[in-house]
Amino acid sequence: MTDKKIEVKGLTLVFGKNRERGIKLLEQGKTIQEIREETGIAIGVNNVSFDVEEGEMFVIVGLSGSGKSSLIRCMNLLNIPTRGELLIDGENIVNYDKEQLKELRRNKVAMVFQHFGLLSHRTVLKNVEYGLEVQGVDETQRKKKSLETIELVGLAGWEDYFPRQLSGGMKQRVGLARALTNEPEILLMDEPFSALDPLIRRDMQKELLSIEDYMDKTIVFITHDMNEAFRLGDRVALLKDGELVQLGKPKEFFENPANDYVKSFIEDVDKSRILRVKSIMEKPTIVGTKGQNRLELVEQLVELQIEHCYVINEEQVLIGYVELEKLKNSQQETIDKSIDRNYEAINRNAYLSDIWTKLSESDIEVAITDKRNRLKGVINYEAVVEALS
Ligand SMILES: Nc1ncnc2c1ncn2[C@@H]1O[C@H](COP(=O)(O)OP(=O)(O)O)[C@@H](O)[C@H]1O
Ligand SMILES: [Mg+2]
Repeated sequence: MTDKKIEVKGLTLVFGKNRERGIKLLEQGKTIQEIREETGIAIGVNNVSFDVEEGEMFVIVGLSGSGKSSLIRCMNLLNIPTRGELLIDGENIVNYDKEQLKELRRNKVAMVFQHFGLLSHRTVLKNVEYGLEVQGVDETQRKKKSLETIELVGLAGWEDYFPRQLSGGMKQRVGLARALTNEPEILLMDEPFSALDPLIRRDMQKELLSIEDYMDKTIVFITHDMNEAFRLGDRVALLKDGELVQLGKPKEFFENPANDYVKSFIEDVDKSRILRVKSIMEKPTIVGTKGQNRLELVEQLVELQIEHCYVINEEQVLIGYVELEKLKNSQQETIDKSIDRNYEAINRNAYLSDIWTKLSESDIEVAITDKRNRLKGVINYEAVVEALS
């Protein structure tokens, strides 16, 4: 089941006053460079369509000037699309009135910017509280909420500092905390880490993945860096001249580059460092449930010719695995006494380069879990070898 959180349909954005003329020229087949050179009309996005699924980390990547900011700013109507639709939870937001827009920005969509956008005369805590303050949330409540997100982004202890006393990485953590405090369903991030040093950037990428893993938010993330795009994205959309060149999972870019432009774009990427477990894991063929009837599971395993399977509880949390032989020999009514808890799972956000040892030491498929230890998939050695070849 996939839930579409955002749907972008035939979206075109022309800047300035001559918008209709811009659209006409596009319809005549002119490129946006031709239009810019001949008429001076600037076009940010040219007929782009895609969906973002609920809970997805969706990355938009492209060189500077390719239209990334133009596009993401349509998602909270900082830019108003000239043509096309933009649906959030199935509702077209393009014609929203002021009130609806206010609601949208207040409750559903938050944005994190490259240059932090912090209020310099306010402390970390007061910056993070700002959104709730505007909404009129009472002081105790907003402080409580803000302290939680400050802790979540790793800034506990820094509440009373001012932005000028913080490093770039810390400022961006404040930006992130501020966006999260409103508990938005969708987080829009426009090159949030581009101003940071490479090492700090790595930290922030990790932090973001861990927050995402924990909170299951829908995130649209923009970057001009292909490595960053592939490290973070469940799916990646590559933009060039305002158009969508390719959209897919990171591994699909390697397996099936759409054209030579894509090939040259991905040339310098080290696959094992950017491909994540979750991009190549598979759904387990069969999963046992705590309390399940033993003979029923035996029958299913025999039928599928499978020797073992993982077992979850009613919250999808992984609790162990069972082996067919053991199950057969058990005298119990349920499978519970046969569950072996001696397993090592891998987090779904791990990079392939980090999991070799665990994989090669395990003779059964390795379980993939999220931060709450919910079973998300399984992976085996061959699949990893294949993905990297
Ligand atoms: N407010 C604006 N008015 C006119 N042209 C703009 C405006 N914002 C962006 N553009 C143009 O739209 C194109 C895409 O820009 P942008 O979306 O900022 O690219 P990116 O974020 O990928 O670097 C560029 O040619 C840029 O000059
Ligand atoms: Mg930009």
